[in-house]
Amino acid sequence: MIVLVTGANRGIGREACRQFAAQGHTVLLTARSPEAANAAAAALGPDVHPLRLDVTVPGDAERIAEEIGERFGRLDALVNNAAITYDTWQRAATADLDVVREAAETNLYGPWRLTQALLPLLRESDRPRIVNVSSEAASLTNMGGGTPAYAASKAALNALTRMLSAELRHERFLVNAVCPGWVATDMGGPGGRPVSEGAAGLVWAALLPDDGPTGGFFRDGRPLPW
Ligand SMILES: NC(=O)c1ccc[n+]([C@@H]2O[C@H](COP(=O)([O-])OP(=O)(O)OC[C@H]3O[C@@H](n4cnc5c(N)ncnc54)[C@H](OP(=O)(O)O)[C@@H]3O)[C@@H](O)[C@H]2O)c1
Repeated sequence: MIVLVTGANRGIGREACRQFAAQGHTVLLTARSPEAANAAAAALGPDVHPLRLDVTVPGDAERIAEEIGERFGRLDALVNNAAITYDTWQRAATADLDVVREAAETNLYGPWRLTQALLPLLRESDRPRIVNVSSEAASLTNMGGGTPAYAASKAALNALTRMLSAELRHERFLVNAVCPGWVATDMGGPGGRPVSEGAAGLVWAALLPDDGPTGGFFRDGRPLPW
C-alpha cells in the first residue's frame, strides 16, 4: 500500500507513519516544514518519503498530487491527520471568530482540498481509503460547551466524512472518521495514552479490508456516536 499522512513530522501522524512502515507499506510522510519532513522520514526507514505539504497553502495540494503521480502513479490511503487549535481557553458564547476560521482552514478546508486534489490518484488504487482524524469532541451526541473552534471544525470534518463516503461508495472507497483517544502529544498534553495506541486506530482504518465499514466514526476500531 502507498499511504500519505499529513502533519506527520511529530505526534500521532509521525507514529502512524512508523507503524505503516513497520508493516512494509510505502509511506509518504508530509509536513509543512521540509526539514522536519526530511528528519522524520530519515528516522523511519528507506521506504518513508518526505514531502512538503501545508494543507492551508493554496496550490500545495495540487503540487503534491502532481509529484505523487509522477513518482508513484497512485495512492492507496490518505490519512488527514494535521490539525490545530484545541481551544480550551474559549467558549462558543464569546469565541474569537478569527480563531474559529483559522482552525477551520487547517482542520476542515485543508483535508477537503487535499482529498479533492488526490482523488484521481486514489481512483488508481484497487482499494482506496480515506481516514479523517477526528475527535470525540466533535460528537454531537456528547457535545457540551467549550473548545468551540476545534469542536466545530471537527464536527464539520465528520460531516465531510459522511458525504464523501456516500458519494464514493460505488467506487469502492472506504471513508471513515477516527478519534485517536486522548494521546500524550503536544496537542494532547501530558497524561494521555501513548502515541502507539492513538495511531493504531488510524492505521486500522487505512488498512481496512474490502468488506470493511465506510461512513463510520471509530476509536480503537469500535464505533463512536456521531
Ligand atoms: N492528542 C490528542 O489527545 C488528540 C485527541 C483527539 C484527536 N486528536 C487529533 O489527532 C490528530 C493529530 O494530533 P496530535 O496530537 O498528533 O497533534 P500535534 O502533536 O499538535 O501535531 C499536529 C501536526 O499537525 C501539523 N500541522 C499543523 N498545521 C498544519 C498545516 N497547516 N499543514 C500541515 N500540517 C500541519 C503539525 O505540524 P508543525 O510541526 O509544522 O506544527 C504537526 O505535525 C489531529 O487531527 C488531532 O485533532 C488528537
